[in-house]
Amino acid sequence: MADTPTPARKPKAAITHIGNHELSPATLMMGHGYDPVLSEGSLKAPIFLTSTFAFPSAADGKRFFEGITGKVPGGTDGLVYSRFNGPNQQILEGRLAVWDGAEEALSFSSGMTAICVLFLAYCNAGDVIVHSGPLYAASEGFVAKTLSRFGVTYVDFPAGATREELDAVMARAKAQAAAQGGKVAMVYLESPANPTNALVDVEAVRDARDAAFGPECPIAIDNTFLGPLWSRPLDHGADIVVYSLTKYVGGHSDLVAGSIAGAKKWMTPVRMLRNVMGGIVDPNTAWMLMRSLETVELRMDRAGENAARVCAWLAVHPKVEKLGYLGMIDDPRQQDIFDRHCTGAGSTFSLYIKGGEAEAFRFLDNLRIAKLAVSLGGTETLASLPAAMTHLSVPDERKAQLGITDNLVRVSIGIENADDLIADFEQALAAV
Ligand SMILES: Cc1ncc(COP(=O)(O)O)c(C=O)c1O
Repeated sequence: MADTPTPARKPKAAITHIGNHELSPATLMMGHGYDPVLSEGSLKAPIFLTSTFAFPSAADGKRFFEGITGKVPGGTDGLVYSRFNGPNQQILEGRLAVWDGAEEALSFSSGMTAICVLFLAYCNAGDVIVHSGPLYAASEGFVAKTLSRFGVTYVDFPAGATREELDAVMARAKAQAAAQGGKVAMVYLESPANPTNALVDVEAVRDARDAAFGPECPIAIDNTFLGPLWSRPLDHGADIVVYSLTKYVGGHSDLVAGSIAGAKKWMTPVRMLRNVMGGIVDPNTAWMLMRSLETVELRMDRAGENAARVCAWLAVHPKVEKLGYLGMIDDPRQQDIFDRHCTGAGSTFSLYIKGGEAEAFRFLDNLRIAKLAVSLGGTETLASLPAAMTHLSVPDERKAQLGITDNLVRVSIGIENADDLIADFEQALAAV
């Protein structure tokens, strides 16, 4: 019998086309980046619970470390140690990259780990971050309260800012950076903004960035609310796309994880820092995310359809003041951004109940199918009151500025039967 040493530990070449026909991400999620031959024929990738990997030879070990440490550019081509990489994480990262049309993706133990390591990888003392507002509270807090301790400052602008407004913001950031002896390190966006659902004009941001700093100042965008299905920001001028995978991608409210994706040149500094700090997603969670990715399109399609039906019903209800839903935008500029950037309205929206906190509480306390919990993007419908929960610590003045009122209920619609959800909302509104 021929001696068959362990083959090079790489899957066979990925099938992304059949002839000229390009396979869709939904199809690639079933097998992309995984070769059963390397795992005893197991159809699904096993979970690789190991802290370290045996090298084929000492020379391979040296070569792998040259890639890990950056001594030789281009990254490593081998598995080394589970703080750096692992089979489950590599397959997951390959599949995440597919959705956004990115060259590479990096996975993290939470969305916030991804965001914090990203900022740390790009910012030096004296630098300035330009960001849209509002951001997810922890992202905004990391910039304002943590990075400020290391001499990094910020300039923010309201989501929805026009090209002219953006030019003025970039000029202000440039002057601030010059005064501090640094540079504008990153433009960081979140669209739609939570909980206002205001969209950022990524194309206008790209043009303003190009005019002010050139393409070497990266634009990163948190696409948690619309990605990966309803918006592909890399197609509109963003360089780095950021996710809390905890939300739609994980999709079952049973894990916490994050990722970033983009061109390899943008990923490399972040990968290097992740190698040092850790924060890579664990193998078990990576495996769960691969399972989730097999149904992400189905789940998001269904949740989006449900949200459209529920919102059509809510919009004409006498106890509803208004809705903040991307399928019912009343501002022409926001509609224009939506038409250029989005392929779906999502399933997370703001429901303004007539009245104040007491009325909103009565609505929430009477829901029978929808669960009273923060987070979004899961199979089940969730509802919460940002002013009293996620945004409780936001100063009243800023809450007023952002339109976070006491009657704003945040709803994330799941994949239940839409008629059942409408029946639930009907009885909860009757109790208000
Ligand atoms: C838009 C957005 N970005 C980032 C995060 C943080 O993600 P994680 O909770 O996975 O750390 C969240 C969490 O709610 C979010 O809503």
